Amino acid sequence: MTLDHGGNIPAAAQRFNIPVERWIDLSTGISPWSWPVPPVPQSVWQTLPYSDDQLERAAAGYYGCNRDAILAVPGSQYALQHTPALLRKGRVAIPQRGYTEHRLAWQRAGHQVVEYADAAVLQELVSGGCVDHALVINPNNPTAELLSALHLLDMHQRLRASGGWLVVDEAFADVCPAVSLASHCPEPGLIVYRSVGKFFGLAGIRLGFLLAPTSLCSQMQSAMPPWSLSHPARWIGAAALQDTAWQAIQRLQLQRAAQQWLQTLQESVPGLQFSATDLFASGSGDAAYCEALFQALGRRGVLARIFEAIEGYSVLRFGLPPPGSVEHLTQLIREAVEECECELP
Ligand SMILES: Cc1ncc(COP(=O)(O)O)c(C=O)c1O
Repeated sequence: MTLDHGGNIPAAAQRFNIPVERWIDLSTGISPWSWPVPPVPQSVWQTLPYSDDQLERAAAGYYGCNRDAILAVPGSQYALQHTPALLRKGRVAIPQRGYTEHRLAWQRAGHQVVEYADAAVLQELVSGGCVDHALVINPNNPTAELLSALHLLDMHQRLRASGGWLVVDEAFADVCPAVSLASHCPEPGLIVYRSVGKFFGLAGIRLGFLLAPTSLCSQMQSAMPPWSLSHPARWIGAAALQDTAWQAIQRLQLQRAAQQWLQTLQESVPGLQFSATDLFASGSGDAAYCEALFQALGRRGVLARIFEAIEGYSVLRFGLPPPGSVEHLTQLIREAVEECECELP
């Protein structure tokens, strides 16, 4: 089984019959500003990527955790796909609306999935001992729901006491470091996934991290093919993770752009209820309306991301607009909204 993902412009081009180069892609949560990659030395292209530990040490510095808690992987997708098979089979709490690859991975590994609608329901499941493990996406994609570190640590204690795991997907947490549990790794019973794709705008190099107890990192590493991470990915990742000056600018730049974007969307699409992180804004609303708006945007070469209907409601997620495109985009979104209002009763 394969799942749909954002960023698939070739598929959208075919579906809407609009050439690839005419699309504005809002369908991912990848920053429109990427860490500026300098020329990669010839030796990095030429030689096999044996680890000299530079990437791992840079990651330990950036995430504020012990070096022994870190395994570099080809995207956090790799970690989240392979971790469930390493944990004791049981009942796992998974967000009803969230990055769907998680559910697939836990089910494939033989766990029983128990869905939760929001943090309050999750809390009940954990406190009541109804689940062995809990998976939290923090902040959640696409709902943007955010749990505090304190809340998560409390749940971690409860799960750990009965031999369970708290697994936190922090793929979008670079923009809200206060909620991160990365610095608590390696704690028994705690797993954190991190991505270099979103905040650093480097999804193409496929780099992420598993932060977990050393034994779990070793287990995953021993099952990985040799040289799973390319040498350029290791080299670029190490440099980006150490560039604290750029990171500070990026945080501010994203914050400013996200605030403006949320305001634009709230004004332009009053039919949706928005929540946001600094990397995307998600509008929840009537499923038929979301579908109509997705189509109307698509006909204008604007690719948003639509999520499946749950109890009559869907979510349309809008990534940050490419630099310089806001005015034009706002116009296109307003036209699409007007069209939907004429179409729908
Ligand atoms: C919540 C979440 N976690 C993890 C991933 C995987 O990201 P990557 O493999 O690029 O690190 C994604 C991708 O969109 C995501 O949305």
